[in-house]
Amino acid sequence: MTQGTFDAAYQQSIRDPNTFWAHAAEGIHWERKWDRVLDDSRKPFYRWFTGGVLNTCYNMVDRHVKAGRGDQVALIYDSPVTDTVKKFTYREMLDEVAHLAGMLRRQGVAKGDRVIIYMPMVPEALMAMLACARIGAIHSVVFGGFAPRELATRINDAEPKLILSASCGIEGKRVIPYKPLLDEAIQLAKHKPQHCIVLQRPQAQATLLAGRDLDWQAARADAQPVDCVPVAATDPLYILYTSGTTGVPKGVVRDHGGHAVAMHWTMKNIYNMQPGEVYWAASDIGWVVGHSYIVYAPLLYGCTTILYEGKPVGTPDPGAFWRVINQHNVKVLFTAPTAFRAIKREDPEGNYIKKYDLSGFRALFLAGERCDPDTLHWAQQRLGVPVIDHWWQTETAWAIAGNCTGIELLPVKPGSPTKAAPGYDVHIVDETGQELPNGKIGSIVVKLPLPPGCLPTLWNNDEGFVESYLREFPSYYKTADAGYRDDDGYLYIMARTDDIINVAGHRLSTGGMEEVLAAHKDVAECAVIGVADDLKGEIPFGFVVLKAGVKRSYDDIVKELVQMVRDKIGPVAAFKSAVVVDRLPKTRSGKILRGTMKKIADGNEFRMPATIDDPAILDEITTALGKVGYPKSNVE
Ligand code: COA
Ligand code: AMP
Repeated sequence: MTQGTFDAAYQQSIRDPNTFWAHAAEGIHWERKWDRVLDDSRKPFYRWFTGGVLNTCYNMVDRHVKAGRGDQVALIYDSPVTDTVKKFTYREMLDEVAHLAGMLRRQGVAKGDRVIIYMPMVPEALMAMLACARIGAIHSVVFGGFAPRELATRINDAEPKLILSASCGIEGKRVIPYKPLLDEAIQLAKHKPQHCIVLQRPQAQATLLAGRDLDWQAARADAQPVDCVPVAATDPLYILYTSGTTGVPKGVVRDHGGHAVAMHWTMKNIYNMQPGEVYWAASDIGWVVGHSYIVYAPLLYGCTTILYEGKPVGTPDPGAFWRVINQHNVKVLFTAPTAFRAIKREDPEGNYIKKYDLSGFRALFLAGERCDPDTLHWAQQRLGVPVIDHWWQTETAWAIAGNCTGIELLPVKPGSPTKAAPGYDVHIVDETGQELPNGKIGSIVVKLPLPPGCLPTLWNNDEGFVESYLREFPSYYKTADAGYRDDDGYLYIMARTDDIINVAGHRLSTGGMEEVLAAHKDVAECAVIGVADDLKGEIPFGFVVLKAGVKRSYDDIVKELVQMVRDKIGPVAAFKSAVVVDRLPKTRSGKILRGTMKKIADGNEFRMPATIDDPAILDEITTALGKVGYPKSNVE
């Protein structure tokens, strides 16, 4: 590939998106071709491939069988926690997905109805997503690590006709019963689903509620296979809830047409895959990485995908990833840097890597959080393959910036996810929207329209979409990330501009946690910040001011606060520590100085904010943090 190939492709995508994406859309089977590639008739609500008709499930399964891939393995379920490896060919997938679609249909689920999937990493979960797509139903997968209240919020917003669940998830050696969480969520929710279909796993039996709950196996046995239902390119395929700046999550909508085109395009152009090869995203189907790169993109492209029910370490050892790559001939692995930090911590010399033949392995892609150069170098040196950081968000479904290795492998610069990907017209601006020169940190925004695959809106909430993403910088999408561009056009993503933190690659709202802490009977005021953590990148840390007259033990109060966040948001929040302080540092106008508190906790230098109300408070904060071991010396 000649130098400059990438830049030429990128320029074409920005100059002439209609031609660029029409060409990409040839990779998809259309029942009816689109009338317009980019429909800008209702700005700022841009739509892709209006008038087009297709079925996403058909493109992922049926057409591959018709094209002769029926005997190729589509899905490998690798579950060290249940000691299982199970393979499904495209033909077997077709049979199972068509039956599951029939099972949904029998429960009255039709095109446009919502189905919540609250399931662990089992093949039935992935097939259920496809079954929804097959009949035009809209799935919303909820990550298992969320608490019932979070699930209830999603039930109320999506108003599902049906919920699909399982008796339990397995976290390392622990069996986590899901059914009690589901029952509690339905009890909390205003909206009630008509039925729940529950997959009984041998590790735990769920008690079914007569009249509401159905046994998965029995329901599946009664079902007849059904065919694909054609849908409009602009119809919703799924809703995926993600943390916003409050405790109320945002329902990111994905459409059928633009999404299928983008997913298919990225497999070759970003990941440099060929149909028939094995691709592995070590994530969870509850996150966007799981949606895009465990489920949709690899199957749209005719690859074999891996559904891994395990952890990078402890299932059984830090060689788990290398075992899977070796055993299943994985060409490309995609995961979060935190997984590599976990492996590096247990096997710093990379001794487990040497036990496996990784000669077929081509590239490692990382995303979900900033990739620290230490982790990048460790992975590069031990694996001897390109390690590619790429930056994206739930909202976009695929990389906003990345090294498009299938177009041209650009030099890797540690700390940068490389350049803006085709379709994304990225700008760095100050708070007034003025473009900043190279090297200057500002808000990262993307000029509208966003490329295919990105969210067209929020579920039932056009106004919220405009408010959250488009209002602040008119004609631009606000990524809510801050960063800069260097003279070579490489982007550097430095921090969020809102209260979102990334804990082990999981996106969480500190505002949501503050809402929980504030509800404690003894708490007058609180703040939650993300502090640096050598494994998870960032973890939440709370500061609470107690109501006057509270004389209880601080330890007891902190324990209660930790339990409250676990109960209300879920274990995934990893909220484990807080301190009681007399007051919080604020500006004269009353704004809590969270950024300064974070700098103190991380041991970074800070400038005394000019607007601080009382500088002495910062000494109190430093002392309180010192008592619980902050700043830690072993984090960057
Ligand atoms: N169902 C129920 N509970 C879950 C869960 C699920 N699906 N997923 C996580 N949890 C729980 C965990 O058991 C843990 O509970 P605990 O506090 O009782 O121990 C808590 O949520 C936090 O989970 P996690 O952040 O995964 O921490 P961990 O210590 O179990 O594992 C890593 C740390 C780094 C090994 C793990 O985060 C990991 O593998 N990350 C890889 C990358 C990834 O998945 N990124 C997502 C986007 S790409
Ligand atoms: P999520 O929606 O869970 O995918 O989280 C998106 C957020 O994660 C982004 O807005 C960034 O803050 C962060 N993020 C994702 N990938 C990267 C990356 N490669 N580098 C830096 N930050 C990242």
